Amino acid sequence: MSSGTRNQFQECQALWLFHFFLLWSAIDGQVRYTVPEELKEGSVVGNIAKDLGLGVAEISDRKLRIVSEAGKQYFSVDLGKGELVVSERIDRENLCGQSAGCLLPLQLIIDSPLHFYHVEIEIQDINDNAPHFPTKEHVLKIPESLMPGVRFPLESAQDPDVGANTVRSYSISADECFSLNVKNLEDGRKTPELVLEKSLDREKQSVHNLVLTAVDGGSPVKSGTTVIEVVVQDSNDNVPHFDQTLYTASISENIDPGTSVLTLKATDLDEGPNGEIQYSFGTHTSDAVNKMFNINSDTGVISVIRNLDYEESKFYTFDVGAKDKGSPEFEGHCTVQIHVLDENDNPPEVTLTSLPNPVLENASIGTVIALIKVKDLDSGENAKVQLQVSPGYPFKLEPSFESHFSLVTDKRLDREAADEYNIEIVASDSGSPSLQTKTFVNVKVLDVDDNHPLFSQPSYNVYVRENNPPGASVYSVSASDADLDKNSLLSYSIVDSVTHGVSVSSYFYINSENGTIYSLNSFDYEKNKVYQITVLAKDHGSPPLSSNVTVHVFILDQNDNVPAVIYPSADMGSVPHQKMPRSAKAGHLVTKVTAVDADSGHNAWISYKLVEATDASLFSVNLYTGEVRTRRAVSEQDDSSQRLLIEMKDNGEPVQSTTVEVPILLEDGVHEAILDFRQKSRDSDNKSSKMTFYLIIALASVSALSFLTVVLLAVRCIRHSRGSSCCCIRRGEAGDGYKNPNRNLQLQLNTDGPIKYIEVLGGDMMSQSQSFRSCFSPMSEISDFTFVKPSSTTDFQEIINVLDASLPDNSWSFESQQVSTG
Ligand SMILES: *[C@@H]1O[C@H](CO)[C@@H](O)[C@H](O)[C@H]1NC(C)=O
Ligand SMILES: *[C@@H]1O[C@H](CO)[C@@H](O)[C@H](O)[C@H]1NC(C)=O
Repeated sequence: MSSGTRNQFQECQALWLFHFFLLWSAIDGQVRYTVPEELKEGSVVGNIAKDLGLGVAEISDRKLRIVSEAGKQYFSVDLGKGELVVSERIDRENLCGQSAGCLLPLQLIIDSPLHFYHVEIEIQDINDNAPHFPTKEHVLKIPESLMPGVRFPLESAQDPDVGANTVRSYSISADECFSLNVKNLEDGRKTPELVLEKSLDREKQSVHNLVLTAVDGGSPVKSGTTVIEVVVQDSNDNVPHFDQTLYTASISENIDPGTSVLTLKATDLDEGPNGEIQYSFGTHTSDAVNKMFNINSDTGVISVIRNLDYEESKFYTFDVGAKDKGSPEFEGHCTVQIHVLDENDNPPEVTLTSLPNPVLENASIGTVIALIKVKDLDSGENAKVQLQVSPGYPFKLEPSFESHFSLVTDKRLDREAADEYNIEIVASDSGSPSLQTKTFVNVKVLDVDDNHPLFSQPSYNVYVRENNPPGASVYSVSASDADLDKNSLLSYSIVDSVTHGVSVSSYFYINSENGTIYSLNSFDYEKNKVYQITVLAKDHGSPPLSSNVTVHVFILDQNDNVPAVIYPSADMGSVPHQKMPRSAKAGHLVTKVTAVDADSGHNAWISYKLVEATDASLFSVNLYTGEVRTRRAVSEQDDSSQRLLIEMKDNGEPVQSTTVEVPILLEDGVHEAILDFRQKSRDSDNKSSKMTFYLIIALASVSALSFLTVVLLAVRCIRHSRGSSCCCIRRGEAGDGYKNPNRNLQLQLNTDGPIKYIEVLGGDMMSQSQSFRSCFSPMSEISDFTFVKPSSTTDFQEIINVLDASLPDNSWSFESQQVSTG
């Protein structure tokens, strides 16, 4: 207690003492004190000695004392001063409770003589108790949906004091939602009640802490408080609310099923089940969305459950609801838009709009073969397609109208090189990575008759024996044609020409289908040694193409001719007499038998033999030259008429021979005979060529050695005269060369055929003034294939030696001439 209050208290006491005296005087006969409660120990209540009319000494002597009734002795008597003093704390509330008056009776006793006194002490209340609430904290649960005006009784405060010292009023801490109303009960007590002024909002303030204060009417005023915790009970008054009204997402079309796409978030300010949110697709969600997406009802995560396909659907939109678990439940909505992004997952598609046309091999560049369409289900760059023909094909692509391409030829085609193309076409899109499609377009190349028939050889040489049976097949030529079918179907024919006045077609016939050549006639080597046939092969194209080839048919000689005697010629059946002088010495040239053989080569190689003679000792016949000479000098005994039988035999197989009977007349007149002979021989020369020595050698058929010689000659020859088919070598000029028989050579050489023959002409004593023409046409009857040699040797090697010795001479000149064959 502060000093201030103590002073106040003392003043009060003084006031009370004054009243006490007034009271004392007012109550007669009875002593009565009034004291406030809670006086200090030793506080004087009153001078009891005096009030009882006793002296101080007397009370001491007579032992005035208080008879205690209850257990407690609140007062005691100070015998020295005669005063009644407080001996113990007096609590009115304890003694009298809530009763308004509180009297404490007190019995005093005094001895000698014993006497009782009755004293009453009225205990007066002081405000020594503050109002107080039974519970310091109180929880009040109020649902937030409650309407204003509702009252909630609150606990009353207790104050043991009485009268004005007890609870007088209540107050509550400020809160806009609440006010306090104090109700006065009939017994005078007051009870507070809480009035809801405004609807509560848990979401705004879930707890209101109010302080209720009770004050009493004492002086000084005392108060007590209690805390009222108003807990606002949630009601489902909030709708779940999405963070966004529109959610968008862009996802690649090839994300894996199960991948989450989007997380939706809705909030509900309510609590408990009222704030527990369940997500679900809106009621009008399409099947497509339901099939493709799933939403986790608790977390709001939207995930893909299937493989997306941009080409199927590029965009999905749907509503999602968020529902709480309150009652009634509330639902919020949002819209979800999912864009599917294209991935390059579709390879380009290539289709042939038209079936590829077969193309002619001579089609001009740029000929359209097929129309091709490309498509790519992707979009943007992924759908940009490039179409190309793989390298190596003679085709290219040209863009046609929208996404169409024409496949056209880029080069000239050749069916013979490639009759079919499997054109590889590559379509690639511009995606990353790029996708490719390969397509093959099969194009057939149609044949055009653009190839000439081709013979198996540039020319053909065919050898046929003469006297062949007519109708025999001679040879087969064949040609091929690279084209196809009709364009390669060949027909053979012989181009008619005239050789030696004879039409070739009268000799030969060709099988038009297979090119086999047949002879129509028997050949006669002596008439015609070579035929030149032009065979034409023609295909059946349109227009037809043809080629021709030359077939040389060489007729091979057969020994089918008997040597024919040229000299001495039989006039009128018999040979005229050959005259010779009787004076002739041995070795005298009597005559010369000359025969020719129409055959050639061996078949024309004639040897002479004396078979019979009148006198065999007188004449001999040179085997090769046919010279008839005397073996010895003619004697007087010799018959003037001699007869010789000379056989002329060729070297063919079989041998053909003939004989001539030569009558010889031995005369005395010499010169005439010789002159005559010369005259005769000159005459006959003009007609039947030379009266020289003929030797026919078919070099090619005799020996390889001779062939070599011929080649040597040919080379020399050709070097000097290119392009000629025959050449002649002439020694010197007339007058010079003719003096030497060995030097008077003329060679004839066929360079275009296998048969080569050389003709050597020698001037001898019998024909010194004659110049034998060097080159003979093949038609020449007697000069062909003959080797005219001035020597009588039979050794072939010798002949060559002669030739060899002659040729290197500087004065040889070459002249060439074409052998006329027609
Ligand atoms: C050509 O046809 C003829 C007649 O049908 C036949 O005799 C001949 O052998 C054929 N030649 C060839 C080379 O097939
Ligand atoms: C044969 O072919 C040649 C060229 O190869 C040609 O000049 C000639 O005219 C042809 N002859 C015939 C008869 O067709």
